[in-house]
Amino acid sequence: MNNFDFKDYIQSNLSEIIGYQALSYPNELRNFIKLDGNENPYGPSKKAIEVLSQRNDFHLYPDHPDKLRQKIADSLNVLPENIVCSAGADAVINLIFSSFKKQDMKLVIIKPSFGMYKHDAMINNLLFDEINLEIASQPNGHYLDANLFSRNKHAFIFAIPNNPTGGIMEKESILKLLDAEHLVIIDEAYIKFSKHQSYVELTKKYKNLIVIQTFSKWAGLAGLRLGYGVMHRDLSSTLNAIQQPYTITNYAIDAAMVSLDDVEFLDNNVKKIIATKDLFINQLVDITNITPINSEGNFILCRINKGKNTDFQKFLYNKNILIRSYSDVELKKYVRISIGTPKNMEYVIEVIKEWNS
Ligand SMILES: Cc1ncc(COP(=O)(O)O)c(C=O)c1O
Repeated sequence: MNNFDFKDYIQSNLSEIIGYQALSYPNELRNFIKLDGNENPYGPSKKAIEVLSQRNDFHLYPDHPDKLRQKIADSLNVLPENIVCSAGADAVINLIFSSFKKQDMKLVIIKPSFGMYKHDAMINNLLFDEINLEIASQPNGHYLDANLFSRNKHAFIFAIPNNPTGGIMEKESILKLLDAEHLVIIDEAYIKFSKHQSYVELTKKYKNLIVIQTFSKWAGLAGLRLGYGVMHRDLSSTLNAIQQPYTITNYAIDAAMVSLDDVEFLDNNVKKIIATKDLFINQLVDITNITPINSEGNFILCRINKGKNTDFQKFLYNKNILIRSYSDVELKKYVRISIGTPKNMEYVIEVIKEWNS
């Protein structure tokens, strides 16, 4: 082997990055109840499956997602030029971060929140600060002292509802940041499960507001990868121009289009998930060694009051249930359980009672 050194080519900060711990789901786990990825237990619209089964053009490059942009825009009452589609909310976030200045501007990330924010900030070499929030949300939501950011330009990213806490950021804090003309990105991956209103409408008032949504959760299309951002055309035109040309497949476009024609069916599944979540929380409240945190998402963060969170996870694993645990200091006592079907959750409660006894 010669003396070639990648250090001469590759940014040194990248070697510190620990890749996102993608959840592996090998065949031997296929009979498990999968409650570790906040996926939709009811799957996609039947019409989407039907449309996908009819495609036979694997050898062709995908179309431009213009029709889809129009359809998403119509569904949100904005214009197609306000929409940037990509391969999941993940790719939209990374696309936005990739356009950010590396030095003159700082990104603020909330902790605990969705791990990809920090990951993407690091791979894009951004300056960023992490701000700790209380895990249990206050009645009006998590509070952020916006006055702390009165001087320099900052960009903020919030998941509303937040993953994994399930809480929301109170609106007053968001409005203060917007009025102070910071750039605010609101990730609404779970907004359909929340009783709170989307911020999309406010993108018409605030040029400095970006809202991100996805078909992964409410529409059950996580595997097809389709998310989008709603933003002012001054930014969307740049992001649409810099994006790789074939990021979104025809299958994702078709499935998303059909989902928007089948909203009643999908919204009904969302209602079922919310009802199952409410029942599950009520049942957990009576179990001493686990404390559920109220959630506006399709998942519940739970504090484990007996033993390690990983022991609890293992107990469930041995009963064929997959859930998410954390190693971050502030989440060391916590696990996150996604909401499955009522039958799934009945079984989970039985198993948790057994662990508790
Ligand atoms: C807050 C948040 N944003 C974005 C995503 C990723 O969404 P997508 O599947 O559209 O990339 C997730 C996935 O779990 C999430 O929790």
